[in-house]
Amino acid sequence: MKVLVIGSGGREHAFVWKVSQSKEVTNILCVPGNAGMSELGVCVDINMNDFPGLVKLVKENNVDLTIVGPEAPLVSGIVDYFENEGLAIFGPNKKAAQLEGSKIFAKEFMSKYNIPTARFDVFDNPDAAKKCVEKVGVPLVVKADGLAGGKGAIICKTKSEAIAAIDMIMVEKKFGNAGNRILIEEMLIGEEASLMAFCDGETIVPMIASQDNKRVFDDDEGVNTGGMGAYAPTGVITEQIYEQTKKEVFDNFITGIKKEGIEYKGIVYAGIIITKKGPKALEFNVRFGDPETQVLLPLLKTDMVKVVSAVIDKKLDKLVIEWERKSCVCVVITSKGYPGNYEKEKEISGLEEIKKIKDVVVFHSGTAFNSEKKLQTAGGRVLGVTAVGNSLDKAIDLSYQTIEEIKFDGMHYRNDIGKKGIKKFVG
Ligand code: AMP
Ligand code: GLY
Repeated sequence: MKVLVIGSGGREHAFVWKVSQSKEVTNILCVPGNAGMSELGVCVDINMNDFPGLVKLVKENNVDLTIVGPEAPLVSGIVDYFENEGLAIFGPNKKAAQLEGSKIFAKEFMSKYNIPTARFDVFDNPDAAKKCVEKVGVPLVVKADGLAGGKGAIICKTKSEAIAAIDMIMVEKKFGNAGNRILIEEMLIGEEASLMAFCDGETIVPMIASQDNKRVFDDDEGVNTGGMGAYAPTGVITEQIYEQTKKEVFDNFITGIKKEGIEYKGIVYAGIIITKKGPKALEFNVRFGDPETQVLLPLLKTDMVKVVSAVIDKKLDKLVIEWERKSCVCVVITSKGYPGNYEKEKEISGLEEIKKIKDVVVFHSGTAFNSEKKLQTAGGRVLGVTAVGNSLDKAIDLSYQTIEEIKFDGMHYRNDIGKKGIKKFVG
């Protein structure tokens, strides 16, 4: 079987790594891929949003299955395009992908189907939005409706921050048309976690709960990033919270998509906050999380191709998905300056030695080979050092021991990835 993976980050390197372990897979193509993926498959430089170009690649190479990483092509309808050509592709179609493509669509869906979430109001006019700020007071969260590269949610502790956020999104149009409408949301207080599920439109199967540590510095200090590391399972989701989320978020999700006539096949990612009143859904993503994927796939015992195929063929109810009863941690190493302007083209050393270490895998995000075939940095997030252990603290220790081997100029990482999970376990 030939597989195409679309995307260029650590999440997609994890897909390629997992899929390469399947007995069914003979060849892997990656668009556009990165240096890590090029060791397991062939990278092809096509724009991810060039659907005709991708279909041509798939047909010319007799690719049997395409797996999509990022949200943008899903929201633009890559799945509909491939299905019209009779090609097998993993991910939700354009209608279903609105659950990530429009935050307003997602919130209205949540309210309609009793999925617990923060209270909210919708605005298409900045003056009305500002009046709402005066009325409800702070803290609150202002959100652009459409895709904004993960930067469209602004937490406002003062009224002037809220007014500035409304102006930035609706008047200055920082995110273009994605800011034509906005949400003003109640700010939820509590620990945040990620619960993803496989869904074939009829059956929804939750994975192990994980947590993404998003702030740039230790102890959750500094600005939000795309994710400085993740770990699974997470003690912040107890068995009771897990069962409650399954019931209140995922069971209602399935009821909702069926009633709305949405054919949902792929991943459902629920970002949740565990409030004093129980888990509440912050958002849905219609794809795997990054870096959550990097800690879940090493724990997945079942062949990933089997799982993906069961979703596409609507046979999830016939498959038992098995997980290792272990822990996994991924510590992300970034370039100097990330998540602002960051340095590039710094030579990376130490990775060859690490390949021999058992239970460790380094997923590449922003890496490339230079003209002399030397590995160098090419993005803000560079590597995800991932380790599996019999307990969370063993996995953390192995990951941090491994990091000692890696060197590049200006490298930065957090020293406390996963620590919150341990505290909660014993506490
Ligand atoms: P989003 O773009 O909706 O994924 O939001 C980005 C981040 O903002 C989330 O991961 C949360 O940390 C935070 N956030 C979003 N909405 C809320 C909310 N209503 N209450 C508290 N934090 C929020
Ligand atoms: N880890 C957050 C996300 O993938 O959206």
